[in-house]
Amino acid sequence: MEKVVLAFSSGLDTSVCVKLLQEKYNMEVITVCVDVGQPENEVERSEKVAHDIGVSKHYTIDAKEEFAREFIFKAVKANAVYEGYPLSTALARPLIAMKIVEIAEEENAVAISHGCTGKGNDQFRFESTIRSASDYNIIAPVRDLNLTRSEEIEYAEKHGIPLPVFSHYSIDENLWGRSIEGDILEDPMVEMPEEAFNWTLSTSDAPDEPRILEMEFKDGIPIALDGEKYDALEIIRECNHIAGLHGIGRIDIMEDRIIGLKSRENYETPGAVLIITAHKALEQIVFTREELRFLSGVSETYSELIYNGLWHEPLREDLDCLIDNMQKRASGIVRVRMHKGNLRILGRESPFSLYQEQAVSFEDKETDQTEIVGMVKNYGIQAACFQNVCRKG
Ligand code: ARG
Repeated sequence: MEKVVLAFSSGLDTSVCVKLLQEKYNMEVITVCVDVGQPENEVERSEKVAHDIGVSKHYTIDAKEEFAREFIFKAVKANAVYEGYPLSTALARPLIAMKIVEIAEEENAVAISHGCTGKGNDQFRFESTIRSASDYNIIAPVRDLNLTRSEEIEYAEKHGIPLPVFSHYSIDENLWGRSIEGDILEDPMVEMPEEAFNWTLSTSDAPDEPRILEMEFKDGIPIALDGEKYDALEIIRECNHIAGLHGIGRIDIMEDRIIGLKSRENYETPGAVLIITAHKALEQIVFTREELRFLSGVSETYSELIYNGLWHEPLREDLDCLIDNMQKRASGIVRVRMHKGNLRILGRESPFSLYQEQAVSFEDKETDQTEIVGMVKNYGIQAACFQNVCRKG
């Protein structure tokens, strides 16, 4: 039998895929669970379920560190956010796909499989990465057979496939965030029920005492909290914890999917919101006006590349060169206040600060104010011409 390597999470879609690949496609199935910070019991469950369904081999790959350093921190430096979404799921997909390709090569497989439907974004992200890295045949059973969620549940029950503790929602979780979609949330007017949140407290349950936090950045990435150094994984987890406790990072948006469908999305991304907000505050003090204007466009393009599954587009690497060079000045400290869902910048400082406190001060006597008169007089000259010539005739 020919071998196929399946990206496996033990959720409904990928569990159904194992059986379909065995029975309908007649293949030997090898499953791979790439750990990008999903709940630990989900990673453990994957191994157990894979064996219960009868795969020939299962791999668990710990990619958390690589996810944090090579993906999340690049996204932080670029302030990557798509339509208000800090790109947690989108960022992990190319990494997962690359790991699957590695296993497929090791195992001499003939094909790679994923459990994506034909409506979402992940099919684009997985397949563009797989095709950039290899020429494996790609099989997407749920999409091929045009299955609905309830048809999948029926198939799973008929074949004795163990399903996760029943959740009405489709949830995807990794180090950078948690996304919740489907079921009653498909009605954009229905409020996300409180019990569906897992990483963040509501404003009423959040502590009455505000939390003041100092975050230190070096070369655009966070390295310390309140003076204490953390490594990549720890600082992301700690930020998720602290910001979540104070009700930061709940996001409810209408998102434009790659294929153009609008989709109602709920996210909990406390760490991402905290880190990116602080990072932007630091950029404001170290970059020139020209740089900041330019960067907002860079950030938008970078975010779209991630969302659209184009991590391997050369433009992303080109932008990284620019970003890395600029971020050498994004070092310093930002002080924030978190209180009941509210995140406020209290202060910022940097050895690369362009702020001239003395010159901007109301008490400054050294700058001769009269010198500016000529510049002010000619300022807006084009607008004045237009008003005189075109409006007055
Ligand atoms: N809309 C988001 C994205 O495309 C999240 C999708 C996550 N999937 C899920 N089953 N909740 O990146």
